[in-house]
Amino acid sequence: MTPKPTLAVVGATGAVGSVMLQMLTHHADVWGEIRLLASPRSAGPKASVRGEECEILALGEEYEHHLDGVDVALFLVPEAVAARWAPVAAAKGAVVVDASGAFRHDADVPLVVPEVNAHAALVRPRGIVASPGCTTLALIAAVGALHAEFGVAELVVTAQQAASGAGAGQAGVDALRAQLGLVAGGGDLGTHPGDVRRAVGENTGPFPGPLALNVLPWSGTAGEDGAAGVHSSEEERVRDETRRILGNPGLRIAATCVRVPVVTGHSVSVHARFEHPVTVGRAHEVLATSPGVVLVDDPAAGDFPTPADVVGTDPAWVGRVRRSMDDERALDFFVCADNLRKGAALNALQVAEQIAASFVGDM
Ligand SMILES: NC(=O)c1ccc[n+]([C@@H]2O[C@H](COP(=O)([O-])OP(=O)(O)OC[C@H]3O[C@@H](n4cnc5c(N)ncnc54)[C@H](OP(=O)(O)O)[C@@H]3O)[C@@H](O)[C@H]2O)c1
Repeated sequence: MTPKPTLAVVGATGAVGSVMLQMLTHHADVWGEIRLLASPRSAGPKASVRGEECEILALGEEYEHHLDGVDVALFLVPEAVAARWAPVAAAKGAVVVDASGAFRHDADVPLVVPEVNAHAALVRPRGIVASPGCTTLALIAAVGALHAEFGVAELVVTAQQAASGAGAGQAGVDALRAQLGLVAGGGDLGTHPGDVRRAVGENTGPFPGPLALNVLPWSGTAGEDGAAGVHSSEEERVRDETRRILGNPGLRIAATCVRVPVVTGHSVSVHARFEHPVTVGRAHEVLATSPGVVLVDDPAAGDFPTPADVVGTDPAWVGRVRRSMDDERALDFFVCADNLRKGAALNALQVAEQIAASFVGDM
């Protein structure tokens, strides 16, 4: 009998890693050994996966051997850590699935969303497959399905990003919760300029200002265009990743990424212009039958997706589908998805499971 592949979860203690361990416990068990790794800071204590306690192993110069004998390695670590260690794991024979931004631009690293371009994972010259960012993943299953039907010509997207999507997800959640504690019961806070900023204080965690009782029109770092006043890295990612996944390098995309005081669950308002005229009826049919998408669209009855309702679930939830007011070729709609699940852990795990399935007979 073919032995089950060995899986390494690198970054098992992080926001995405913690969700990954829950998913591994609930998904069909296709793995032999599951090895958990994190920084040397976290090594030693145990974490639970598949109902068993597993020791957390260190990743680092003295611990390279912890990557020996791994068939598939899920990298759920900061970009610099993935850039350093994913090639090491690949050189040792593992197929790496990386959730960071370290390899998403690399032409020799496929960028894969199983519902849209699963075939791309088959060709991986560096032994690495990249998983897109959380905002792209929130919208891409719905956009990909509509693209297949109507041919997308242009996208305008505004993402309302949750705190746990702020690069270092756990730090973002901790910062938002601390800020909410500082403003709770704060009388008339939010009624005078700067009062929320003073209540929260200087330490705003990974955010460039107070997030509690607020909205921050900036996430990520200054993008390739330069410094303040231009696109952020998150906005460039949405454009670049969507183009790569849809196989359309010239697709016109305008993106605005805004951080909102939601713990987990990204929301995206999408204006999609197509090559062909569209109808809401046909768009509903397409979305209702697309893998990874759930349609909830009866606004008169109060039925539309919100992050508070979809957190902890797997699909991208779509609602508010309407034909654009002044354009018969355009649709406007709203998508919500859990940024730690489909936006990170789930997509990476789906790719890893696809790779594991391809091993059957090879091992
Ligand atoms: N959060 C999201 O919504 C989201 C969505 C898509 C993609 N991603 C990407 O997924 C990755 C993980 O994000 P996250 O939100 O889970 O971050 P996080 O909460 O900060 O967790 C980071 C993980 O990486 C580990 N780590 C840090 N430095 C390390 C090192 N030198 N060696 C080994 N492990 C190290 C941490 O271990 P310790 O606990 O020991 O520090 C922790 O397990 C990032 O690249 C992020 O951009 C995140």
